Amino acid sequence: MKLVRHIARLGYGSRKQVLALLREGRITAADGRALAADTALDHALLRLDGEPLDVAPGFIAMLHKPVGYTCSRKDAGRLVHDLLPPRWRAREPQVSTVGRLDRETSGLLLLTDDGALLHRIIAPRAHVAKVYVAELAQEMRGDEAALFASGTLMLESETTPLAPAQLRVLAPRRAQLTLHEGRYHQVRRMFAATGNHVLALHRVAVGALTLGELPAGQWRLLDADDIGRIFVPPVDAGA
Ligand code: URA
Repeated sequence: MKLVRHIARLGYGSRKQVLALLREGRITAADGRALAADTALDHALLRLDGEPLDVAPGFIAMLHKPVGYTCSRKDAGRLVHDLLPPRWRAREPQVSTVGRLDRETSGLLLLTDDGALLHRIIAPRAHVAKVYVAELAQEMRGDEAALFASGTLMLESETTPLAPAQLRVLAPRRAQLTLHEGRYHQVRRMFAATGNHVLALHRVAVGALTLGELPAGQWRLLDADDIGRIFVPPVDAGA
């Protein structure tokens, strides 16, 4: 891909604006050499005002989503995209969330501009596990683990039963739940089906990938090992 188009698609401006940056000598090679608009150069060797450019296309990142942010590009209120570099909003291909978390849910959210990778993660047959910790309004009644694991639980207005899910009781009103599918408000609706109510919900892992020490509101790029972990079952799912 030609230099101007490549840099414009990273969100640095229109092709005209990127051309102007080139003419001003602000876009250079790593050694400071000025570049022509049609130069074909490795992304890693490009600099703007001496600084490396944003991550190359085909990336995936994780965000520690705080409560109160919506997984949307244009809803009213605070958006998860507000927590990412502003330039990412203008990238082509677009940066999308991999699935969604409710506004009131916190935790591990994946974002990528790689459509093939996104589909590989959310494809039903990939069975990528999503691990949640829920704080509940009432003590669990005791049959939740069996009910959720049964593969027969039918949520209101659905036509197929839920796939088996694994519940681990952490405290009388605190549970870890591992899902292998992603239906609308699934965790909240599963506990509602048992007469309970989720007060707080946090996603702790996607596959074996966890947030680690990443603080709420912060993001980081994933490397090949992290990506591999997404497709590995979580360490204690079903324990
Ligand atoms: N289940 C929910 O109810 N909400 C989420 O955000 C994710 C799973």
